[in-house]
Amino acid sequence: MFELFHFTKSIFLKVVCRKFHPNSLIGKDFLSLRDFNDLEIQQFLWTAYDLKHRIKEKEEYLPILQGKSIAMIFQKRSTRTRLSIESGATILGAHPIFLSNNDIHLGVNESLKDTANVFSSLSDMIVARVYDQNFLTTLAKNASVPVINALSDHSHPLQILADFLTLQEHFGFLKDLKIAWIGDGNNILHSLLLGAPKMGMHLNYATPKGYEPDKQVVTVAMELSKQYHTKLRYFTDPKEAIKDSNVVITDTWVSMGQEDERDKRMKAFEGYQIDKHMTKLASHDWVFLHCLPRKSYEVTDEIFYSDKSLVWKEAENRKWTFMAVMLHLLKSYFPRNFKPNFTKID
Ligand code: CP
Ligand code: NVA
Repeated sequence: MFELFHFTKSIFLKVVCRKFHPNSLIGKDFLSLRDFNDLEIQQFLWTAYDLKHRIKEKEEYLPILQGKSIAMIFQKRSTRTRLSIESGATILGAHPIFLSNNDIHLGVNESLKDTANVFSSLSDMIVARVYDQNFLTTLAKNASVPVINALSDHSHPLQILADFLTLQEHFGFLKDLKIAWIGDGNNILHSLLLGAPKMGMHLNYATPKGYEPDKQVVTVAMELSKQYHTKLRYFTDPKEAIKDSNVVITDTWVSMGQEDERDKRMKAFEGYQIDKHMTKLASHDWVFLHCLPRKSYEVTDEIFYSDKSLVWKEAENRKWTFMAVMLHLLKSYFPRNFKPNFTKID
Protein backbone atom coordinates (compact mmCIF):
# COMPACT_ATOMS: atom_id res chain seq x y z
CA MET A 1 0.00 0.00 0.00
CA PHE A 2 2.79 2.39 1.01
CA GLU A 3 4.77 1.55 -2.13
CA LEU A 4 1.70 2.13 -4.28
CA PHE A 5 1.19 5.55 -2.66
CA HIS A 6 4.86 6.40 -3.14
CA PHE A 7 4.83 5.30 -6.77
CA THR A 8 1.63 7.25 -7.53
CA LYS A 9 3.08 10.35 -5.87
CA SER A 10 6.26 10.08 -7.95
CA ILE A 11 4.31 9.71 -11.19
CA PHE A 12 2.20 12.72 -10.17
CA LEU A 13 5.32 14.83 -9.60
CA LYS A 14 6.99 13.69 -12.80
CA VAL A 15 4.02 14.05 -15.16
CA VAL A 16 1.24 16.19 -13.72
CA CYS A 17 3.33 18.91 -12.04
CA ARG A 18 5.24 19.55 -15.24
CA LYS A 19 2.02 19.81 -17.22
CA PHE A 20 0.39 22.40 -15.02
CA HIS A 21 3.54 24.22 -13.99
CA PRO A 22 5.66 24.41 -17.16
CA ASN A 23 8.39 26.49 -15.54
CA SER A 24 8.86 23.91 -12.82
CA LEU A 25 11.71 21.46 -13.13
CA ILE A 26 10.10 19.06 -10.65
CA GLY A 27 10.20 15.49 -11.89
CA LYS A 28 12.46 16.28 -14.84
CA ASP A 29 15.54 14.14 -15.54
CA PHE A 30 18.98 15.74 -15.68
CA LEU A 31 20.74 13.73 -18.38
CA SER A 32 22.28 16.40 -20.60
CA LEU A 33 22.58 20.20 -20.76
CA ARG A 34 20.94 19.85 -24.16
CA ASP A 35 17.62 19.39 -22.31
CA PHE A 36 17.81 22.71 -20.44
CA ASN A 37 17.47 26.21 -21.84
CA ASP A 38 19.46 29.29 -20.83
CA LEU A 39 16.97 30.36 -18.14
CA GLU A 40 16.87 26.90 -16.60
CA ILE A 41 20.67 26.73 -16.43
CA GLN A 42 20.67 30.20 -14.88
CA GLN A 43 18.08 28.97 -12.37
CA PHE A 44 20.39 26.13 -11.27
CA LEU A 45 23.31 28.55 -10.93
CA TRP A 46 21.23 31.09 -9.03
CA THR A 47 20.03 28.44 -6.58
CA ALA A 48 23.56 27.05 -6.17
CA TYR A 49 24.83 30.54 -5.40
CA ASP A 50 21.91 31.12 -2.99
CA LEU A 51 22.42 27.82 -1.13
CA LYS A 52 26.15 28.46 -0.84
CA HIS A 53 25.50 31.90 0.59
CA ARG A 54 22.76 30.80 3.00
CA ILE A 55 24.38 27.60 4.23
CA LYS A 56 28.12 28.32 4.09
CA GLU A 57 28.22 32.02 4.87
CA LYS A 58 25.05 32.60 6.93
CA GLU A 59 25.25 29.14 8.52
CA GLU A 60 21.51 28.59 7.99
CA TYR A 61 20.12 25.12 8.67
CA LEU A 62 18.05 24.05 5.64
CA PRO A 63 16.80 20.45 5.92
CA ILE A 64 14.33 21.03 3.08
CA LEU A 65 14.69 17.54 1.66
CA GLN A 66 14.21 15.70 4.94
CA GLY A 67 12.73 12.24 4.40
CA LYS A 68 13.97 11.97 0.81
CA SER A 69 16.35 9.20 -0.21
CA ILE A 70 18.80 9.48 -3.10
CA ALA A 71 19.90 6.21 -4.71
CA MET A 72 23.34 6.35 -6.32
CA ILE A 73 24.32 3.78 -8.97
CA PHE A 74 28.06 4.03 -9.65
CA GLN A 75 29.63 1.82 -12.32
CA LYS A 76 32.86 3.87 -12.29
CA ARG A 77 35.09 5.24 -9.55
CA SER A 78 34.64 8.79 -8.23
CA THR A 79 36.01 11.16 -5.63
CA ARG A 80 34.36 14.57 -6.12
CA THR A 81 31.02 13.48 -7.55
CA ARG A 82 30.35 10.90 -4.86
CA LEU A 83 31.43 13.23 -2.07
CA SER A 84 29.47 16.21 -3.43
CA ILE A 85 26.30 14.13 -3.78
CA GLU A 86 26.59 12.46 -0.39
CA SER A 87 27.50 15.62 1.51
CA GLY A 88 25.10 17.85 -0.48
CA ALA A 89 22.16 15.50 0.06
CA THR A 90 22.94 15.20 3.77
CA ILE A 91 23.14 18.98 4.23
CA LEU A 92 19.61 19.32 2.80
CA GLY A 93 18.34 16.52 5.05
CA ALA A 94 18.13 13.80 2.38
CA HIS A 95 19.68 10.34 2.73
CA PRO A 96 22.11 9.23 -0.01
CA ILE A 97 22.61 5.51 -0.60
CA PHE A 98 25.76 4.55 -2.55
CA LEU A 99 25.49 1.38 -4.63
CA SER A 100 28.42 0.12 -6.68
CA ASN A 101 28.26 -2.76 -9.18
CA ASN A 102 29.13 -5.13 -6.35
CA ASP A 103 26.18 -4.05 -4.21
CA ILE A 104 23.19 -4.62 -6.47
CA HIS A 105 21.81 -7.33 -8.78
CA LEU A 106 21.75 -5.04 -11.83
CA GLY A 107 23.91 -6.44 -14.62
CA VAL A 108 24.12 -9.89 -13.01
CA ASN A 109 20.60 -11.19 -12.46
CA GLU A 110 18.24 -8.21 -12.67
CA SER A 111 17.33 -6.14 -15.72
CA LEU A 112 17.64 -2.37 -15.96
CA LYS A 113 13.86 -2.09 -16.40
CA ASP A 114 13.13 -4.07 -13.23
CA THR A 115 15.83 -2.20 -11.31
CA ALA A 116 14.31 1.13 -12.41
CA ASN A 117 10.88 0.05 -11.17
CA VAL A 118 12.16 -1.06 -7.81
CA PHE A 119 14.35 2.02 -7.31
CA SER A 120 11.33 4.23 -8.12
CA SER A 121 9.31 2.80 -5.27
CA LEU A 122 12.17 2.78 -2.76
CA SER A 123 13.87 6.12 -3.44
CA ASP A 124 12.98 9.66 -4.53
CA MET A 125 15.77 10.16 -7.06
CA ILE A 126 18.41 8.14 -8.88
CA VAL A 127 21.89 9.49 -9.56
CA ALA A 128 23.98 7.32 -11.86
CA ARG A 129 27.61 7.28 -13.07
CA VAL A 130 27.80 4.93 -16.02
CA TYR A 131 29.63 4.07 -19.23
CA ASP A 132 26.79 4.19 -21.73
CA GLN A 133 24.52 7.24 -22.07
CA ASN A 134 21.79 4.88 -23.38
CA PHE A 135 21.81 3.21 -19.98
CA LEU A 136 20.75 6.58 -18.52
CA THR A 137 18.01 7.17 -21.07
CA THR A 138 16.60 3.66 -20.54
CA LEU A 139 16.80 4.12 -16.78
CA ALA A 140 14.99 7.47 -17.03
CA LYS A 141 12.34 6.02 -19.34
CA ASN A 142 11.55 3.24 -16.89
CA ALA A 143 11.85 5.19 -13.64
CA SER A 144 9.10 7.37 -12.23
CA VAL A 145 11.58 9.40 -10.16
CA PRO A 146 14.08 11.91 -11.60
CA VAL A 147 17.36 10.49 -12.92
CA ILE A 148 20.59 12.53 -12.79
CA ASN A 149 23.65 11.88 -14.97
CA ALA A 150 26.69 11.81 -12.67
CA LEU A 151 29.00 11.19 -15.71
CA SER A 152 28.77 8.92 -18.68
CA ASP A 153 31.19 8.30 -21.54
CA HIS A 154 29.13 10.86 -23.43
CA SER A 155 28.71 13.74 -20.99
CA HIS A 156 29.15 15.21 -17.53
CA PRO A 157 26.60 18.02 -17.18
CA LEU A 158 26.96 18.40 -13.39
CA GLN A 159 30.65 19.23 -13.87
CA ILE A 160 29.91 22.02 -16.32
CA LEU A 161 27.38 23.63 -13.98
CA ALA A 162 30.12 23.76 -11.33
CA ASP A 163 32.50 25.30 -13.87
CA PHE A 164 29.94 27.98 -14.76
CA LEU A 165 29.34 28.83 -11.09
CA THR A 166 33.11 29.11 -10.53
CA LEU A 167 33.48 31.47 -13.51
CA GLN A 168 30.44 33.52 -12.46
CA GLU A 169 31.94 33.95 -8.99
CA HIS A 170 35.35 34.89 -10.39
CA PHE A 171 34.40 37.23 -13.24
CA GLY A 172 30.98 38.38 -11.97
CA PHE A 173 29.40 37.45 -15.33
CA LEU A 174 29.51 34.70 -17.97
CA LYS A 175 28.33 36.33 -21.19
CA ASP A 176 31.08 36.98 -23.75
CA LEU A 177 33.80 35.09 -21.86
CA LYS A 178 36.15 33.33 -24.27
CA ILE A 179 36.85 29.72 -23.34
CA ALA A 180 39.71 27.65 -24.76
CA TRP A 181 39.44 23.88 -24.37
CA ILE A 182 42.81 22.20 -24.97
CA GLY A 183 42.59 18.40 -24.85
CA ASP A 184 40.46 15.42 -25.63
CA GLY A 185 37.07 15.58 -27.39
CA ASN A 186 35.52 13.81 -24.41
CA ASN A 187 32.47 13.84 -22.10
CA ILE A 188 33.47 17.11 -20.40
CA LEU A 189 33.92 18.90 -23.72
CA HIS A 190 30.54 17.56 -24.90
CA SER A 191 28.75 19.14 -21.93
CA LEU A 192 30.73 22.35 -22.41
CA LEU A 193 29.74 22.47 -26.09
CA LEU A 194 26.07 22.08 -25.13
CA GLY A 195 26.16 24.58 -22.26
CA ALA A 196 28.56 27.41 -23.14
CA PRO A 197 26.56 28.97 -26.02
CA LYS A 198 23.43 29.11 -23.84
CA MET A 199 25.35 31.22 -21.33
CA GLY A 200 26.59 33.49 -24.13
CA MET A 201 30.16 32.21 -23.96
CA HIS A 202 32.49 31.76 -26.94
CA LEU A 203 34.34 28.47 -27.27
CA ASN A 204 37.57 27.56 -29.07
CA TYR A 205 38.40 23.89 -28.77
CA ALA A 206 41.61 22.16 -29.81
CA THR A 207 41.98 18.39 -30.03
CA PRO A 208 44.50 16.24 -31.89
CA LYS A 209 43.19 14.76 -35.15
CA GLY A 210 41.20 11.61 -34.40
CA TYR A 211 40.20 12.85 -30.93
CA GLU A 212 37.49 15.33 -31.96
CA PRO A 213 34.20 15.50 -30.06
CA ASP A 214 31.12 13.62 -31.27
CA LYS A 215 29.82 15.03 -34.59
CA GLN A 216 26.19 15.14 -33.42
CA VAL A 217 27.16 17.16 -30.36
CA VAL A 218 29.15 19.57 -32.54
CA THR A 219 26.17 19.99 -34.89
CA VAL A 220 23.90 20.87 -31.98
CA ALA A 221 26.55 23.22 -30.55
CA MET A 222 26.84 24.99 -33.90
CA GLU A 223 23.07 25.53 -33.99
CA LEU A 224 23.15 26.82 -30.41
CA SER A 225 26.01 29.18 -31.25
CA LYS A 226 23.93 30.67 -34.06
CA GLN A 227 20.88 30.96 -31.82
CA TYR A 228 22.80 32.63 -28.97
CA HIS A 229 25.15 34.66 -31.21
CA THR A 230 28.35 33.12 -29.87
CA LYS A 231 31.51 31.93 -31.61
CA LEU A 232 32.48 28.27 -31.83
CA ARG A 233 35.78 27.33 -33.48
CA TYR A 234 37.78 24.12 -33.85
CA PHE A 235 41.61 23.94 -33.99
CA THR A 236 44.26 21.26 -34.01
CA ASP A 237 46.92 23.72 -32.83
CA PRO A 238 46.37 24.48 -29.13
CA LYS A 239 48.36 27.73 -29.47
CA GLU A 240 45.78 29.02 -31.94
CA ALA A 241 42.87 28.00 -29.72
CA ILE A 242 44.22 29.63 -26.56
CA LYS A 243 44.81 33.07 -28.12
CA ASP A 244 43.01 35.84 -26.16
CA SER A 245 41.00 33.41 -24.07
CA ASN A 246 39.74 34.30 -20.58
CA VAL A 247 39.34 30.68 -19.52
CA VAL A 248 41.70 27.79 -20.25
CA ILE A 249 40.30 24.31 -19.62
CA THR A 250 41.70 20.85 -19.97
CA ASP A 251 40.98 17.35 -18.67
CA THR A 252 42.62 13.96 -18.57
CA TRP A 253 43.91 12.58 -21.88
CA VAL A 254 42.85 9.08 -20.75
CA SER A 255 39.28 8.92 -19.48
CA MET A 256 37.90 6.09 -17.36
CA GLY A 257 37.50 3.06 -19.60
CA GLN A 258 40.26 4.13 -22.02
CA GLU A 259 43.19 2.83 -19.95
CA ASP A 260 44.27 0.41 -22.71
CA GLU A 261 44.79 3.34 -25.10
CA ARG A 262 47.15 5.16 -22.74
CA ASP A 263 50.39 4.88 -24.77
CA LYS A 264 48.72 5.80 -28.04
CA ARG A 265 47.07 8.79 -26.44
CA MET A 266 50.30 10.01 -24.79
CA LYS A 267 51.82 10.29 -28.28
CA ALA A 268 48.73 11.85 -29.87
CA PHE A 269 48.50 14.60 -27.23
CA GLU A 270 52.16 15.69 -27.44
CA GLY A 271 52.23 19.50 -27.48
CA TYR A 272 48.93 19.76 -25.61
CA GLN A 273 50.37 20.35 -22.12
CA ILE A 274 49.19 23.67 -20.65
CA ASP A 275 52.32 25.52 -19.56
CA LYS A 276 53.54 29.07 -19.09
CA HIS A 277 54.52 29.45 -22.76
CA MET A 278 51.07 28.48 -23.95
CA THR A 279 49.19 30.60 -21.42
CA LYS A 280 51.23 33.70 -22.43
CA LEU A 281 49.00 33.76 -25.50
CA ALA A 282 45.79 33.95 -23.44
CA SER A 283 44.13 37.19 -22.34
CA HIS A 284 45.81 38.94 -19.36
CA ASP A 285 42.89 37.92 -17.07
CA TRP A 286 42.93 34.19 -17.97
CA VAL A 287 42.05 31.57 -15.39
CA PHE A 288 42.52 27.81 -15.43
CA LEU A 289 39.92 25.07 -14.85
CA HIS A 290 40.24 21.27 -14.68
CA CYS A 291 37.48 18.91 -13.50
CA LEU A 292 40.11 16.70 -11.78
CA PRO A 293 41.68 14.23 -11.23
CA ARG A 294 44.71 15.74 -12.96
CA LYS A 295 48.04 14.43 -14.28
CA SER A 296 51.07 16.71 -14.59
CA TYR A 297 51.55 15.93 -18.29
CA GLU A 298 48.24 17.74 -19.01
CA VAL A 299 49.17 20.89 -17.08
CA THR A 300 52.39 21.88 -15.34
CA ASP A 301 52.54 22.31 -11.56
CA GLU A 302 53.46 25.94 -12.18
CA ILE A 303 50.02 26.60 -13.70
CA PHE A 304 48.00 24.06 -11.72
CA TYR A 305 49.09 25.39 -8.31
CA SER A 306 49.18 29.06 -9.33
CA ASP A 307 46.78 31.90 -8.45
CA LYS A 308 45.36 31.56 -11.95
CA SER A 309 44.05 28.10 -11.15
CA LEU A 310 40.45 27.92 -9.81
CA VAL A 311 40.43 24.12 -9.55
CA TRP A 312 39.77 23.89 -5.80
CA LYS A 313 36.83 26.31 -5.95
CA GLU A 314 35.60 24.39 -8.99
CA ALA A 315 35.74 21.13 -6.99
CA GLU A 316 33.85 22.67 -4.05
CA ASN A 317 31.21 24.06 -6.39
CA ARG A 318 30.37 20.50 -7.43
CA LYS A 319 28.51 20.29 -4.13
CA TRP A 320 26.48 23.52 -4.40
CA THR A 321 25.53 22.92 -8.02
CA PHE A 322 24.50 19.31 -7.36
CA MET A 323 22.36 20.50 -4.43
CA ALA A 324 20.65 23.03 -6.73
CA VAL A 325 19.87 20.39 -9.35
CA MET A 326 18.61 17.88 -6.78
CA LEU A 327 16.45 20.52 -5.11
CA HIS A 328 14.80 21.78 -8.31
CA LEU A 329 13.99 18.27 -9.53
CA LEU A 330 12.35 17.40 -6.22
CA LYS A 331 10.72 20.60 -4.91
CA SER A 332 9.79 24.20 -5.62
CA TYR A 333 12.50 26.52 -4.36
CA PHE A 334 12.79 30.25 -4.75
CA PRO A 335 16.21 31.72 -3.84
CA ARG A 336 16.35 34.42 -1.15
CA ASN A 337 19.36 36.18 -2.65
CA PHE A 338 19.10 38.37 -5.76
CA LYS A 339 19.74 36.67 -9.07
CA PRO A 340 23.40 37.09 -10.13
CA ASN A 341 23.90 39.19 -13.25
CA PHE A 342 25.16 36.74 -15.87
CA THR A 343 25.68 39.56 -18.37
CA LYS A 344 28.71 41.83 -18.34
CA ILE A 345 27.98 45.38 -17.18
CA ASP A 346 30.11 47.88 -19.15
N1 CP B 1 35.30 15.73 -11.70
C1 CP B 1 34.79 14.56 -11.30
O1 CP B 1 33.68 14.15 -11.70
O2 CP B 1 35.57 13.92 -10.41
P1 CP B 1 35.35 12.47 -9.81
O3 CP B 1 35.61 11.48 -10.92
O4 CP B 1 36.36 12.37 -8.70
O5 CP B 1 33.95 12.35 -9.32
N1 NVA C 1 36.94 12.66 -18.79
C1 NVA C 1 37.11 12.09 -17.47
C2 NVA C 1 36.42 12.92 -16.46
C3 NVA C 1 36.62 12.49 -15.04
C4 NVA C 1 35.86 13.32 -14.07
C5 NVA C 1 36.64 10.66 -17.45
O1 NVA C 1 35.58 10.38 -18.01
O2 NVA C 1 37.33 9.81 -16.88
